[in-house]
Amino acid sequence: MSLRTVVEGVSHYVPERRVTNADLTTMMDTSEQWILDRTGIEERRFVDQPTPTSHLALESARRVLEKTKTSTEDVDFLLAATLSPDFYFPGIGPMIQSGLGLKTIPALDIRVQCSGLVYGLSAADAFIRSGQSKCLLLVCAEVQSPVLDFSTRGRDTAVLFGDGAGALLLRAEETDDSTDLLARRGIIDSYLGSDGQGAEVLCVRTPGTSTTGFITQEDFDERRWRPHMDGRQVFKNAVIRMCEAATEILQRNSLTPDDIALIVPHQANLRINEAVRERLGFREEQVFNNIQKYGNTTSATIPIALSEAEEEGRLKRGDLLLTLAFGAGFTWGANLVVW
Ligand code: COA
Repeated sequence: MSLRTVVEGVSHYVPERRVTNADLTTMMDTSEQWILDRTGIEERRFVDQPTPTSHLALESARRVLEKTKTSTEDVDFLLAATLSPDFYFPGIGPMIQSGLGLKTIPALDIRVQCSGLVYGLSAADAFIRSGQSKCLLLVCAEVQSPVLDFSTRGRDTAVLFGDGAGALLLRAEETDDSTDLLARRGIIDSYLGSDGQGAEVLCVRTPGTSTTGFITQEDFDERRWRPHMDGRQVFKNAVIRMCEAATEILQRNSLTPDDIALIVPHQANLRINEAVRERLGFREEQVFNNIQKYGNTTSATIPIALSEAEEEGRLKRGDLLLTLAFGAGFTWGANLVVW
């Protein structure tokens, strides 16, 4: 017998306020068609400010606890992924712990940007299989709208991102080792990577310790506290690394693209996901995308997509799921899960 990490449930929460591409054209020099053609995004959700990230995180976490009928007493470990915490420090993990009224359990923040879910599932699997947790809550949440630059100068990034959250409840399950891996629910494998050579290709530079005095007037005036991105570099690397992650995890588990029921990739750009799908030889109906409605919600894209895929009947118990992500850092990865 050995321990296995089963995804008991997933839920999501997005703010009510819809911001369409047409809305953005009133703020900057862009067009509805440009945004749609280059990214696939039709609208995104923004919070009414100020709404801290922990608020979205708590909403999605409450939903998954309710959905899985899990008592707050049962949760014994919390993982929280975000690039947009309420404060510079501490992270949102302890805030979620107290907001939900959980016991004084371990709470760990994960900072790998858009790869938050794949790293989070991998870490959850390690904590569960090593016996450190039996019931783990993984929350991915972002409030990005306050830091975006809605002038024409920031149009390459401002049109891409949205606010949102998703949460997964993971449980330890004892399984008989003689059973075929694919016949049992749970996380089968994770593949993770990073390359810090890409750190400045997509980043928010300040406030930070690389600047004298944490943030200077010049940093502020030059908007170095807004996201900086070389979109083409990110695009190119995202396609290469997501393909690498998928190929590696399939090969080392002796699987082919046909074995996968559903791929839920990070939602950064529909063209990135389409390029990855074509290169790997997956059929269109094997890939779930919802970037059209939410834009790029960074760590929350995959949990929101998993939750919607399940609601729409596209992801069912026993299905073999492949997640794929690429994000700032650079960081990337994949999980293979029997849902
Ligand atoms: N509206 C209109 N024009 C815009 C624009 C906008 N919102 N944003 C940029 N442009 C302009 C550029 O200024 C450029 O103009 P120029 O040719 O006069 O210099 C032109 O559009 C083309 O820019 P380019 O960078 O070649 O476009 P692209 O096809 O690469 O698409 C991105 C740009 C940002 C959509 C694309 O590079 C991308 O999605 N990259 C990945 C980003 C990402 O995923 N980030 C998160 C990672 S997890």
